Amino acid sequence: ITCLYIYTFVFVFFRSKSEPPLDKGVIPWLGHALEFGKDASKFLNRMKLKHGNIFTVRAAGRYVTVLLDPHSYDAVINDSDSLDFTRYAQVLMERIFNLRLPHHQPAKAKAMMKKHFLGMNFGSLNSAMGKHLQALLKAEMPQNQKDWKEEGLFNFSYSLLFKAGYLTLFGGEQNNNGTDPSSVYEEYKKFDGLLTKMARGTLKPEEKRTAQSVRQRLWELLAPAGLTEDSGSSPWLHAYRCLLQEEGADKETQKKAILMQLWATQGNVGPAAFWLLGYLLTNHEALAAVKREMETSETSLLNGPVNTPVFDSALEEALRLTAAPFITREVVQEKTLHMADGQEYLLRKGDRVCLFPFNSPQMDPEIHQEPQKFKYDRFLNEDGSAKRVFYKGGRRLKYYTMPWGAGTNGCVGKQFAINTIRQFVYMVLANYDLELSDPNAQIPEINASRYGFGMLQPEGDLLVRFKPRNTH
Ligand code: HEM
Repeated sequence: ITCLYIYTFVFVFFRSKSEPPLDKGVIPWLGHALEFGKDASKFLNRMKLKHGNIFTVRAAGRYVTVLLDPHSYDAVINDSDSLDFTRYAQVLMERIFNLRLPHHQPAKAKAMMKKHFLGMNFGSLNSAMGKHLQALLKAEMPQNQKDWKEEGLFNFSYSLLFKAGYLTLFGGEQNNNGTDPSSVYEEYKKFDGLLTKMARGTLKPEEKRTAQSVRQRLWELLAPAGLTEDSGSSPWLHAYRCLLQEEGADKETQKKAILMQLWATQGNVGPAAFWLLGYLLTNHEALAAVKREMETSETSLLNGPVNTPVFDSALEEALRLTAAPFITREVVQEKTLHMADGQEYLLRKGDRVCLFPFNSPQMDPEIHQEPQKFKYDRFLNEDGSAKRVFYKGGRRLKYYTMPWGAGTNGCVGKQFAINTIRQFVYMVLANYDLELSDPNAQIPEINASRYGFGMLQPEGDLLVRFKPRNTH
C-alpha cells in the first residue's frame, strides 16, 4: 500500500507538472515564425511527427501550444474561463484594421448578429441575396450573348459573391454614383492580399504604406453604410452602427469596425464557392450528381428549407479540403489540459493555445481515407442521407470537419453562407454552359501562406469559359 501511495504521488506529481514538449527553433526570439508563416500546415505536420499531438513552439517571441487531437478539442473550446478568445482577437483587430473598440460588448454584438442571420430576417436576407446575384450575373453575361466568355473562376466567383453580399448587407448601388460595389471589391482585393502579413506584422515599409492607403480608401467607401435606417444597407448593419454609437465609438472607429465586418461577412464565401465549383468542374461524376439533384429540387430553392444532401456533401467536402482557420485562445490563468487519452499537460498563463482542424480532423488519413482527394459523396451514407459518423482511434468523433470553427465563437453566418453558395452554384449551373477552358486542367495549388486565416485561396486561377445556356 505504501508503495502504491508513493507511486501514485510521484505519478501525479510529475504528471501535473509536465508541460507539452517545447520546440524553440534555432533563431532567437523569432523561433519558428518564418516556417510557420510560409506553410503552417506543413510545419505543424513536421512538429507532430517529432512531438505528437500536443507541443509548444516559439514564434515571434510568443509561446504557442498546438493541439492536434480532435478528440481533445472540447477541452479548449469549452473552457472560456481559462482560455480567452477576445484578447487575441483584439490583437488581430488592431493589426489588421487599426481598430480598438472602447467599452466593447462582444456578447451584445454577437446576439444581434444571431438575431439577424439566424432568426426572423433569414428569409428576407436570402431573397435579397438571390436578387442581387441574379442581377449581377445578368450584367456579367447578358442572356443574348452568343460567344463564350473566358475568365478565371476564382475571380469570377469572388467578385460576384462579394458584390452581391456587399449590396445585401452594406447597401450601395450598382452602376450608380453611390458606392459602387466594383470599386469596393477592387480595393478589398488589395487589402485581402496584404491581410496575412498585416496579421503577422511582417509588412515591408512599402507594403505598409499601401496597406494604409487601401484601408483609408475602404473606410471612405464604407462611410455611409448603415448610417441611417434608409441607407439601403441591411437592418443588421444599422443596428450594429447604433450599438457602436451607444458604446461611445467615434465616427473614425465606426468606419474601421465596419471594414472588419466587411471582412468577416465577405472574405470566405467567394473563395468557398470557387473551390466547390472548381472541384465539380474537374470531377465529372460529382458535377453530374449535383446537377441531377438540382433538377429535382429547383422549385424550393430560394425560399424555405431545402433538402439537398448531395450538394451539402459536395460543399462539406470542398470545405474539408480548403477551410483552414486557426482556433486560437490566450491562457489567462494556468490550466491543466486533460487530453482524451488520459494525458495531462500544464498550460502556462500568457501562452497561446491553437487548434488547427485542417491537419486533423480534416486531412487526417486515419479519419478520411485518401484525404487529398475530392470525393463528393464522402459525407453521404449509402441510403443517400447525410453521413455524420466518423472514427479516429476506434472512437466516434464529435469533430470530423470544422470549417466553421466551433463553440460559442463558431461562425454565426454559416446557414446564410451555405444558402448563398447553393443559390450561386445552382444559378450558374442552371443558366449557363460552364466548362474548363482546358478540359484537362486540374484544380490549382493552395496558396500556402494563408493557412490559419479561414478559407484558403488558390495560387493562380482556373480558367473557365461560359455562355448563357441555350434552353431551346
Ligand atoms: C464559407 C463561408 C464562411 C466560412 C468558412 C466561415 C468561417 C468562420 C470561422 C472559422 C469563424 C471563426 C470561428 C472561431 O474563431 O472559432 C467565423 C466567424 C464568424 N463568421 Fe463566418 N464563415 C463564413 C461566412 C460567413 C458569413 C457569410 C457571415 C455573415 C454574414 C459570417 C459571419 C461571421 C462572424 C460575425 C464571425 C465572428 C464570430 C465571433 O466573433 O465570435 N461568416 N466564420
